[in-house]
Amino acid sequence: MELTKDEQEMLAGSKGEAVKLAMEILTRVGEACGAVRLIPVKSAHIVLAMYKSIFDAGVEVCERFASLNGKFVIPTTLDPCGMDTQNPDYFKTPQKYKEQQLRVVDAYKKMGAIPVWTCTPYLEGNLPQKGEHVGWTESSAVAFINSVLGARSNRETAVIDICIGLTGRTMDYGLHRDENRWGEVEIQLNLEGRELEDSEYPILGFYLGKILGSKIGVLDGMKGSPSIEQLKSLLAGAAASGSVALLHIVGITPEAPTKAIAFGGNTPERTIIVDEMVLKETKDSMSTVSKGKVDLVALGCPHYTINEIGKIAKLMDGKKVNPGVEFWIYTTKSNEMIAERMGIKQKLENAGVKLTVETCMLISPVETWGFKTIVTDSAKCAYYAPMQCKADVRFEDVKTCIESAITGVI
Ligand code: F3S
Repeated sequence: MELTKDEQEMLAGSKGEAVKLAMEILTRVGEACGAVRLIPVKSAHIVLAMYKSIFDAGVEVCERFASLNGKFVIPTTLDPCGMDTQNPDYFKTPQKYKEQQLRVVDAYKKMGAIPVWTCTPYLEGNLPQKGEHVGWTESSAVAFINSVLGARSNRETAVIDICIGLTGRTMDYGLHRDENRWGEVEIQLNLEGRELEDSEYPILGFYLGKILGSKIGVLDGMKGSPSIEQLKSLLAGAAASGSVALLHIVGITPEAPTKAIAFGGNTPERTIIVDEMVLKETKDSMSTVSKGKVDLVALGCPHYTINEIGKIAKLMDGKKVNPGVEFWIYTTKSNEMIAERMGIKQKLENAGVKLTVETCMLISPVETWGFKTIVTDSAKCAYYAPMQCKADVRFEDVKTCIESAITGVI
């Protein structure tokens, strides 16, 4: 790999042992990925954060870098972890789990990470610009910043993310390079001129992930002006059921003002039509259960914004969650504070809805509660919950999720 003089010195240990180790990892993985150089990046986002996924080995990795006096040299935010870090006992967090998670929290504090603990760091101050190179993990966030903001990141991996934050460099391959960002597959939305409804964005994302895998799609025919919330649920679904890291949405993605520009001269490998039937069949495929008792209604994957939280508060007005059901909304600490100031948090609590911060249903020890059936409005949750939470899952629109919370049945 061709390294600058500065990078060669970092590799030789001029900036300490943590940077030296990070450079060793980046250069060796970079060579394996076919990168011939490293490039500077403006920010990092780290997924090596949740004890449920990183296990004891992940804890040791964090502590190793911290003990070597590693310090992040670019803004470096953290993905959700396995619990509310300031309130770890709130959700029956097992003792060992709590202790290990707190070791991770401590290690990142020493290294100077920004503890937003969210999968939506672009809404919490880590907002890359068009054309900016960054090194992020968290599949839903990477898909969002490439597709909506026009920033550039591969779906980096755990450990590499720490190395990026410590060095301010990533490997120059994949989506960092112009030639790898053109569209490959054409997707034509054919809904006879109507706009997608809220719940159809995650359904469409789920379908696109399945058919695209890691190919770059060009989605044309979307009507109206989708909100940030709608786009985040679309892209989280695509990044969960497939490896989508960039989806050109014609008229929205900065690199896709037109379909032709998004393909950059490429001929589409194939054209896929998405119509009413595709959306219906996809929705039917997203659940593992069709009736019966509900244990948990879980919203906020990716983390809910204050707008989404406010919408639930309105829909719950005058209603109560069934005593046999837990109803949790996952969000950020800052959204919780705003909801509290607005009186929304109190309204939700009075209705039996809990705001759960810094974590989510998939990366916290939800299975220790014994939930058998989860109802959600999230395609990503629907995709992973059977594996991660060992529960059946029902995907529904928000109103139907709320009905299930109130009646206690699907
Ligand atoms: Fe975020 Fe957890 Fe979903 S990290 S995208 S809420 S799985």
